[in-house]
Parts: sequence; C-alpha cells; structure tokens
Amino acid sequence: MPFFEIQVLVMNMYALSDALFCIPVDVHTADLFEGIWTIPNGVSLNTYLVKGEKTALIDLIQDHPPAASEQVQAALKSVGVDFAALDYLILNHLEPDHTGWLREFREKNPRAEIIATQKGVNVIKSFYTIDTGLRAVKDGETLDLGNGKMLTFFEVPNIHWPETMVTWDASSGTLFSCDAFGSFGALNGRLFDDEFSETELLFFEKETLRYYANIVASFSSFVEKGIQKLSALNIACICPSHGIVWRKNVKTILDRYLRYASYGKGQGEKEIALVWGSMYGNTKKGLDALIKGIEAEGVPYSTHRVPDDDISYILTSVFKSAGLVLAMPTYEYAMFPPMAYAIDIFRRKHIQGKTVLRIGSWGWSGGAQKEYDAAVAQFKWNNLEPFEWTGVPAPQDLAVLEDRGRSLARIVKEG
Ligand code: FEO
Repeated sequence: MPFFEIQVLVMNMYALSDALFCIPVDVHTADLFEGIWTIPNGVSLNTYLVKGEKTALIDLIQDHPPAASEQVQAALKSVGVDFAALDYLILNHLEPDHTGWLREFREKNPRAEIIATQKGVNVIKSFYTIDTGLRAVKDGETLDLGNGKMLTFFEVPNIHWPETMVTWDASSGTLFSCDAFGSFGALNGRLFDDEFSETELLFFEKETLRYYANIVASFSSFVEKGIQKLSALNIACICPSHGIVWRKNVKTILDRYLRYASYGKGQGEKEIALVWGSMYGNTKKGLDALIKGIEAEGVPYSTHRVPDDDISYILTSVFKSAGLVLAMPTYEYAMFPPMAYAIDIFRRKHIQGKTVLRIGSWGWSGGAQKEYDAAVAQFKWNNLEPFEWTGVPAPQDLAVLEDRGRSLARIVKEG
C-alpha cells in the first residue's frame, strides 16, 4: 500500500551533462504529503543517475504503480544503462517518498550496493528488511565510479531526518542535496531554473517556502550548520529530490534557504499573519477593525480563516511573518477548536520570535484566553496585551481594536 495514492504520474529524463541525468517524477494526488500537507499543484520526486565506468542511482521514488518502475527502466535504457546492472543505489535519506519501492528495486537488481549513512542503513534494515548488499558511509567518504566521477558523501543530520546526507560530485560541481532546497509543485515538463518564466519561478519560490515551513522548519539550526558545512564547495548546480534543479541561480536558492532558516530561529518579514475563526461574525467584526489599524500603518498582512484555510498555508504565512494575530471566540469555555489545532501545529513546528496579539469575543464567562495563555506559555513569543469583548463589539471596542492594530503594525515595522 503506497503511503499516498498516486492519481497521475508523469516521468521524463533530462541530461545535466553526458554523465549526469535526472528522472523527475511528477506526482499529482488528492492525498496529503506526509499525510498532513496539501499538494494541490503536485510534487516532483527526483531520481538522479551518475555514469562513470560504474553507474549509481541517487534516491528513488515512493511506492507506485508497476508502470512507473517500467518507466524508470525505460528512462535508464534510453541512456544506455541497464537497470538490472546498476552498480550502486545511493540513498541520501530514507523517507518513503524516496525509498518506497526499495524492496522492488532490490528484487529487480540484487547486485547493486545500497549506500547510506549508518543511521540510514539501520532504517533500511528495519523498514525494508534488507540485510545484504548495504554499505554505511561516513562523513567525507568517497565513492569512485571511474571516468573521473568521484562522489563524496557529507552528513547533514536533521535536514530533515537524522540519517540524511548529501552527495557531491566535485568534477561537475553538482550537489545532490536531498530534500534541502526542494519545493512542492510538479515540474510539468521542465527541470532547470533557467527554463521557467518569472511567474513560474515566483510560484516555485512560494512552494519552496511552503515546503520549508511544513517539512524543514523545526530543523532550521541544522539547516544553517549544513549550509555552513557545504560552504567550502564550489557549487555549480543544486539537484534536490523535489522541484527545480538550480544551475543558473545557485546563490538565489542558497540565500533563500538561509533566510528561511532565520525565520525558523525567530526572525520574520515585516508582515503580519492574521489567523482567525468566528462563529457568528462577532470576532470577525473585531478583526476588521484591527485590520483598519494595520492598513493605516501600511504593513503587509495575510488573512487565514480556520478551519476553512489549509493548515499548510497558514503555517507558511505564520512562519514567514514577524507579526501574528490570533483572533478567535470562546467556544464552550475554551479556545475555538480549529484555532487550538493551529496553535498546536505552531508549537510542534517550533514557531518562535513572533510578536503576537490575541483577540476575540465571548458570550457568558469567557475561557479562550485562559486556555490560550496555558497553550503558549512555553512559546518564545512577544505576547502583547490581549483584547476581548462580550458579544457584538461596541464602538469603543472597535476603536480599541483599531488602535491595537496600529500598535502591532508599528512594532512589526520598527522591529
Ligand atoms: Fe522528500 Fe524527507 O523526503
């Protein structure tokens, strides 16, 4: 049973050079990535082939319909490589989106040595009950494929699983970076950054940030360490396991990742994410007044309603923004349940450093604020004085809220 059901799967073969190739698989599915994150624009799963005297495949794809396996074999054959004769399978990371068909691979190619970190080898044994033909490589270890193709492995733990490594081809300056620098979004017949229009690149920029916020955010200190570790390499091309291959604007994606890592450590853009829920419109009325104040200060903002908006996008906006508004009513003497869920996701993703204003209405005795205070007590947030009102906000409440919006916007602007 695949970890998600593929509805449409498209595969192509691209040459990065006469010795390096990419087989990106576009996956379109109604299922959720990792069982949590929506991918309405699909996602690509990129496998790479390195040809020296010997051949190595880098990363696989998830479990899939049998036709995909046949497509991979056909793609390899098109560049003169017999799938069954592959010498090595390098697994930078063992998450099943890149290893789901490992058992099938092993059955069809019993000779290839499977290479991973020691932690990766342990996962291969426990997840796939494969015990032979495995090689654990250490940080900095090399693999000579012949014909000048010498691969080097660098451990980058927790980007984003503990066993993760990247593979470096010094002869071409190519970094096979695994999930790092990847994005959601199907490639739809192109691969390289210089093949996409500005509009398309903007789309992938958003999908890269969303991928980072959803998948990598908790490990931002490791991202910084990993990039620092790789800084001595003269990188000409970045080949992630999802999304665009970067060969023209390598610095762009490196800088972008460092910026995302800074969000993960508590910095943010001078923007405000407003996450709100309202049962009968009273909290929404208060939110609208608050927005008037924010607009008066000219600070950019985004709004997300819970539970209507997807948590994947909510998390991304919150991750990126220096300011945060959480607007919700009391519901059965406690927080509005969809907001409680969103806040729990923020906790699990270690969202920190935000300047936060919580507002909302209540009917009888309140209770949301008490539960909220307990929920965020351990968060590294700058919590501004909250504001609540009973029922419909009175004109004086709306005036206070507009003023609070101004104050929050000023803090964000000047922060
Ligand atoms: Fe794309 Fe963490 O696997």
